[in-house]
Amino acid sequence: MPDPSASAASSFARDQWYVAAWSSEVGRELLGRTILGEPIAFYRTEAGEPVALADRCVHRRFPLSASGLDGDRVVCGYHGFTYDTTGTCVYVPGQKRIPRTARVSSYPVAEVDGMVWVWVGDPEAADTAAIPRAPHLVEDGWVTVQGMEPIDADYMLLVDNLMDLSHETYLHGGYIGTPEVAETPITTEVDEAAGIVRVSRHMLDAECPPFYARSTGIEGRIQRLQDIEYHAPCLYLLHSRISPTGTDSPTFRTEITYAITPSAPGKVYDFWAVSRNFAVEDEEVTTFLRDFNHTVVMQDVDALNLLQRTLDTEPAGYQELSINIDTGGLAARRILGKLAAG
Ligand code: FES
Ligand SMILES: [Fe+2]
Repeated sequence: MPDPSASAASSFARDQWYVAAWSSEVGRELLGRTILGEPIAFYRTEAGEPVALADRCVHRRFPLSASGLDGDRVVCGYHGFTYDTTGTCVYVPGQKRIPRTARVSSYPVAEVDGMVWVWVGDPEAADTAAIPRAPHLVEDGWVTVQGMEPIDADYMLLVDNLMDLSHETYLHGGYIGTPEVAETPITTEVDEAAGIVRVSRHMLDAECPPFYARSTGIEGRIQRLQDIEYHAPCLYLLHSRISPTGTDSPTFRTEITYAITPSAPGKVYDFWAVSRNFAVEDEEVTTFLRDFNHTVVMQDVDALNLLQRTLDTEPAGYQELSINIDTGGLAARRILGKLAAG
């Protein structure tokens, strides 16, 4: 059945938590990120607390992310207006009186499971209990490799990409894709109230792609279970379990995490992580997974950049055609549409 496209400038759900950075990216240097169209400067206080302030000095709009810190305060790199962690200006050059309007917005921010989350909507509605969890990113016994790639595409295109893994066979053939991914039907479960979409694909006798052959050492065919759990709008978890076909060998668990953060119309941050609880001391496996997954992510980045450029030349009102594999993606679009409508 034809569906109206979801990719033409999707609107954003503002009253939601979004991942702004990996914890390791936020430190004593200012970091600039644009979240839902708002430029924000992130840093950590001397005590280690993350802070998020609007990234424009109230004086002449110089980016605070290009400025410096004095203790817990941000000193504008242009003329020295100085802001505390609440965004209140506590110093201006050349005069004692600080104008009452000399302040920048500060944003609710929370650090959960190795990620710095920010809330750009109504601060009164920000409840950290609503942040979905990814404990494998920080738990003992797990090793994680991670990165972030900006993509010049509507965030909905990345949601679509991640909800339908049949593309692994074609876009990531020879990396993580094998014929069985596209061939095996999915089951989809939608919890509209909680904003969660689950998509499962269980391949009982599949080729082992290099991603798993080289990280687990398995030779021969595998049972490959993919269970997606998407917590709209931002957090995507792919629970992957691998074991050699027809044996009772232990299962290798890999948790693949994505955070999908709209940066601006037509721009999205693609945070990715691969966590494993096997071969945790093996540096070679860690390096392999980091490099290999980065290559896989770049295949998606290149494809989505191309897709967005292509869609941008389409006449308005074009229709796309959806099939069974799109059930999860369509459910995600519905939920995101509702969240954006408030
Ligand atoms: S622009 Fe920041 S102090 Fe002038
Ligand atoms: Fe992909």
